[in-house]
Amino acid sequence: MGKAAARERAPFRCEECGLHLAKWVGRCPECQAWGTVGETAAPAGITVSAGPVSSPATPIAQVPAQGAAHRPTGVAELDRCLGGGLVPGSVVLLAGEPGVGKSTLLTAAAAQIARQGTRCLVVTGEESAAQVRLRAGRIDALADELYLAAETDLAAVLGHVEAVEPKVLVVDSVQTISSPAIDGAPGGVAQVREVAGVLTRIAKQRGIATILVGHVTKDGAIAGPRALEHLVDVVLSVEGARHARLRLVRTVKNRFGPADEVGCFDLTDDGIDELTDPSGLFLSRANGEPVPGTAVTVAMEGRRALVSEVQALVAPSTLPAPRRACSGLDSARVAMMLAVLERRAVVKVSAADVYTATVGGVRLVEPAADLAIALAVAGAARDRPLPGDVVALGEVGLAGEVRPVGGLTGRLQEAARLGFRRALVPAGASTPVSGITAIEVTDLRAALCILNDSISTPRPSNVAPLNRVS
Ligand SMILES: Nc1ncnc2c1ncn2[C@@H]1O[C@H](COP(=O)(O)OP(=O)(O)O)[C@@H](O)[C@H]1O
Ligand SMILES: [Mg+2]
Repeated sequence: MGKAAARERAPFRCEECGLHLAKWVGRCPECQAWGTVGETAAPAGITVSAGPVSSPATPIAQVPAQGAAHRPTGVAELDRCLGGGLVPGSVVLLAGEPGVGKSTLLTAAAAQIARQGTRCLVVTGEESAAQVRLRAGRIDALADELYLAAETDLAAVLGHVEAVEPKVLVVDSVQTISSPAIDGAPGGVAQVREVAGVLTRIAKQRGIATILVGHVTKDGAIAGPRALEHLVDVVLSVEGARHARLRLVRTVKNRFGPADEVGCFDLTDDGIDELTDPSGLFLSRANGEPVPGTAVTVAMEGRRALVSEVQALVAPSTLPAPRRACSGLDSARVAMMLAVLERRAVVKVSAADVYTATVGGVRLVEPAADLAIALAVAGAARDRPLPGDVVALGEVGLAGEVRPVGGLTGRLQEAARLGFRRALVPAGASTPVSGITAIEVTDLRAALCILNDSISTPRPSNVAPLNRVS
């Protein structure tokens, strides 16, 4: 018996994750949710015969081509994530943890759309209308064509859609809307999926661009958005550290455009501002003297190159197990860099407390940041600054070798744009980029030679004997 057939015959199924089970259990063995396993309707012996079709199948070349007509929202960073704007009749899921700024972002965007004369309806199931009005006042989002309804009943939401006839509908959040006609508890997967299904049908029928807010919990989206990803056209995820202002809106899925876009926003008391040129934000020293223990790299966030700084502080430790703290970096990669520095480049850090951090709340977790982490730590350990015009790009292996990174040309262009003149890059990987000199390094020891160079004008010949141990 095949797997599919086994599933057909399984009499029980978890509502949360869809796991099929032969017997009832109180807790799903797959997703660990309690009380979600129920009986499935017996599918045995269903036969389907051919019925009427909605429209005949056509040779593909004769199907009228209709491009996705993106309508810009007026918030450029959001439009970038959407692939140009909202498409009429499409459904967007905006997911993120509570407090990350979803309601703020959508209120601002809805107001911007409404100001262009497009009618927007915001349905709030989480807050009272007065609360949303207060926020809208605070972030300057009052507009004539922006309508607001506080509602949690699906039928009532549809009633508002009929009465207001919006072109854009925002539902904040999809988990708070429910219908007594649907089985399952409000906010449960069955309800959320059905509610989203109904709203999707209405969106397609009436050409309403619909944005559904979905809450994601830290432990991985049990509450529903995952269950909706296949249903909607676009999935955006809002991310940001709790105490930092930077917010990244990432395109996880897009049926109408590229899926690796990133939009950058600044969440302030006055609302959420677009960051069209965020690169410099992640640097601590705009004009000042370079400080020992800092190194600059260029990270890729989706298709965007962001020039970002790594900082390190190395201090003699009094503890038997020295402290290792890192913020905004992958702790496993930092630990690896410390070991590689110790064993391959003779930078003694094993008896020292080592603190590492990024600037401005950015997260640097890609291996391309390895070289910058290593240089920041080595600079801090030796109390030597890196020249201010240098960026470092490269993954560092356990043997101390510097390995190639993707998107090198784009990264170098962004560094050059921000005024950096030299780049430490993996050997053999770079194509020339005007305005910046690529200094190829094969291993970490070679890269550390840059710490002995305090001259900030391009003099790559000074670092030419790259096998020299500093
Ligand atoms: N009156 C206020 N003044 C300043 N900041 C506020 C105010 N009210 C809420 N915030 C902040 O705005 C941020 C975003 O909130 P919100 O958009 O409601 O998030 P979400 O909808 O994702 O849960 C929160 O971190 C919150 O602390
Ligand atoms: Mg909210």
